[in-house]
Amino acid sequence: MKGIVLAGGSGTRLHPVTRAVSKQLLPVYDKPMIYYPISVLMLTGVREILIISTPNDLPAFQRLLGDGSELGVEFSYAEQAAPNGLAEAFIIGADHVGDDTAALVLGDNIFHGQQFSTMLTDEAHRLDQEKGCVLFGYPVRDPERYGVGEADETGRLISIEEKPANPRSNRAITGLYFYDNDVLDIARRLNPSARGELEITDVNRAYVERGDARLIDLGRGFAWLDTGTHESLIEASQYVQVLEHRQGVRFACLEEIALVHRWIAPEQAYELGKQQGKSGYGLYVMDVATRIQLEGTNV
Ligand code: TTP
Repeated sequence: MKGIVLAGGSGTRLHPVTRAVSKQLLPVYDKPMIYYPISVLMLTGVREILIISTPNDLPAFQRLLGDGSELGVEFSYAEQAAPNGLAEAFIIGADHVGDDTAALVLGDNIFHGQQFSTMLTDEAHRLDQEKGCVLFGYPVRDPERYGVGEADETGRLISIEEKPANPRSNRAITGLYFYDNDVLDIARRLNPSARGELEITDVNRAYVERGDARLIDLGRGFAWLDTGTHESLIEASQYVQVLEHRQGVRFACLEEIALVHRWIAPEQAYELGKQQGKSGYGLYVMDVATRIQLEGTNV
């Protein structure tokens, strides 16, 4: 499976903050926002990740993340000239996906919950065997603000609507999408919507019509956090701060995920931590690397 993080857009709801800095580079407590969606792809086991952003912002993402080799992954980069819609990711990213399956995650979506990585790897493996797409639904109070999915008792999606006035369910479709390779063709054949965008809902509707779109419910115990407004951004930071502080672990620590997957050696992770050793994040990476190295020598 190949990964795409879509991190463009204009962030107008966060002006003036996002007039000079990309939304997806703003901090969510102790790390840049884009770490969270990248961590989702890495937890899925995806190592080839394309980062798409605006021509203006792309160099800053490159400065932050480099080519990924330090983490045992490959980051590549592509521009989206204008915010022409989420589905354009599969036109820009067609060569990157090649003949593989694809995972798209939005650069401002934060997920957290138990057993998430098992869920992700199971679904990614399933798509290796079966055709279709997998969407992740989250119960929300105000479904009319989102793409809304309705599934039958087997989890098959039977309808999908964009910002419906009378939603048929309270399941918002989150910004994480797994597709078989047909997504490239489907995206290529799309027409722009009334607002001039290539809509991801239209891609998903094509799978619903084929009958092989599945909706996985992220239940109550999950957090799917929004970062699009000043209020939701600070709430996301507070959520991460409270849980990290209470549990003594960090979410979306890319070095830790790489280490646990054995994509990098403990010594390498330790060095990466040391380079950031004046921050709590860096100290945490050094700590985790030391612990894993000791466990390794004890086996
Ligand atoms: P939005 O939150 O809908 O848009 P935005 O980020 O530009 O913010 P605002 O509404 O404040 O102007 O976008 C969701 C995510 O998708 C976000 O990470 C930006 C990204 N995006 C793109 O990269 N390209 C696009 O064409 C669109 C529509 C969104």
